[in-house]
Amino acid sequence: MKKYSEEFLEIAQPIIVHESYIKMKYIKHHNESVYEHCMDTAYMSYRISKRMGMDYVATTRGCLLHDFYLYKFKKGKGVRFFSAPLFHARNHPLIALENAGKHFVLNQKERDIIKNHMFPIGVPRSGEAWIVTFVDKFLAVCEYSLRVKKMTFNKREVKIGT
Ligand SMILES: [Fe+2]
Ligand SMILES: [Fe+2]
Repeated sequence: MKKYSEEFLEIAQPIIVHESYIKMKYIKHHNESVYEHCMDTAYMSYRISKRMGMDYVATTRGCLLHDFYLYKFKKGKGVRFFSAPLFHARNHPLIALENAGKHFVLNQKERDIIKNHMFPIGVPRSGEAWIVTFVDKFLAVCEYSLRVKKMTFNKREVKIGT
């Protein structure tokens, strides 16, 4: 069981209990689900922004919603193998922003965090959005590494088993 602080959960509560948000638990992303990725990214961003005396409420809320695109990303084959990730990288922040706007009231900073978290495709306008951008990239690398590690371990297990 992961440990998040009480204050973080209090800020996150109105978003993470929403029926549309819970759908992200069933969408795979990197090593886990989009839900877990957003929770981890938001918690790390919350801690950094709080320590730096920044708007940690907007950081938490915006970050929780930065990948609220609600579809399963597929790489495809051939030319699409290259175009699909680019398409996804460019469009998913806008889709997430649109979805978030349907269900939650967002301020300017929260909108900036969601829309511009894919730097250099988007350019963050606030310190809070820069924090989320860097934390998102850092955790994406960590999550991918864990996934590769898991896959390598599983292959070894199969070899030993055969
Ligand atoms: Fe994203
Ligand atoms: Fe992300």
